[in-house]
Amino acid sequence: MSPDPKAPGPAIVLAMIVTHRIEGYAIVSADGMIADADGVMPASIRNSADQKFLQAALDGAAAVVHGQHSHEGGPRAAMRKRLILTRHVASIAPDPSQPNALLWNPEGATFEQALAALGAAAGTVAIIGGTEVFGLFLPHYDAFHLTRAPATIPGGRPVFPQTSSQSTPEDILAAAGLRPTPRRDIDAAAGITLTTWKR
Ligand SMILES: NC(=O)c1ccc[n+]([C@@H]2O[C@H](COP(=O)([O-])OP(=O)(O)OC[C@H]3O[C@@H](n4cnc5c(N)ncnc54)[C@H](OP(=O)(O)O)[C@@H]3O)[C@@H](O)[C@H]2O)c1
Repeated sequence: MSPDPKAPGPAIVLAMIVTHRIEGYAIVSADGMIADADGVMPASIRNSADQKFLQAALDGAAAVVHGQHSHEGGPRAAMRKRLILTRHVASIAPDPSQPNALLWNPEGATFEQALAALGAAAGTVAIIGGTEVFGLFLPHYDAFHLTRAPATIPGGRPVFPQTSSQSTPEDILAAAGLRPTPRRDIDAAAGITLTTWKR
C-alpha cells in the first residue's frame, strides 16, 4: 500500500535541518492511531516497557519537541529542555508554567532559531508528537522509533496526518525514505514490538 497523495500534510514545511539529529518516538495501535477521537491516549496502548525506552532516550536528548496536547510525563520531564508548538504565540515565547520550555510557532521562527533560543546542546532532538508535529518533521527524521501495540482505536487520531486505511505508518516512513531495522519484542507477553526506522 502507498500513502494517499491527497491526504492532508503539514501546512508548512520546515527548512532542511542540519544542526541536530532528529528522532521520532511513537506508540501506535494496530490501526495506526496514537489517541482516540477525543484526543485521549487510551490505556490499551500504554506500556511500561515502551515508557522505559522512551524515558531513557529522552534523558539523552538535547531537546524534546511536542504539540500543546502532548507530554511524556514522568519524574524527569521538568528537567528536559523542550519546545512546545502552538499558534498562540507569533514566534518564540517563554512558557510561564515550565522554565525549561519555550513556546514555538514554526510560522514565525525557524527550528534552528527556536533551538538556539532554548540553548539546546548539540545532539539529538526527540520529536514526541502529536499527529501534526510528527507529520511536520517527516522529511527530517534520521530515525523513527515506532512501537506497536495490538489494540485498535477505531476512529482515532493517526500517528501521521497521512495515515489512512490505505497507508500504514510503515508505508509512510518508507515513502519518506526510512528503512526498518530488525523488530524487537520489548514486551512479548503484551504483544508490544519496537522497530527503529533509519534514513
Ligand atoms: N501514542 C503516542 O505515541 C502519542 C504521542 C503523542 C501524543 N499522543 C497523544 O495524542 C493526543 C494529542 O495529540 P494531538 O495530535 O491532538 O496533539 P498535539 O500535537 O500534542 O497538540 C496539538 C496542538 O499543538 C499545536 N500545534 C501542532 N502542530 C502545530 C504547528 N505546525 N504549528 C503550531 N502549533 C502546532 C497546536 O496548539 P494550539 O492549539 O495551542 O495552537 C495544536 O492544537 C494526546 O492524548 C497525547 O497523549 C500519543
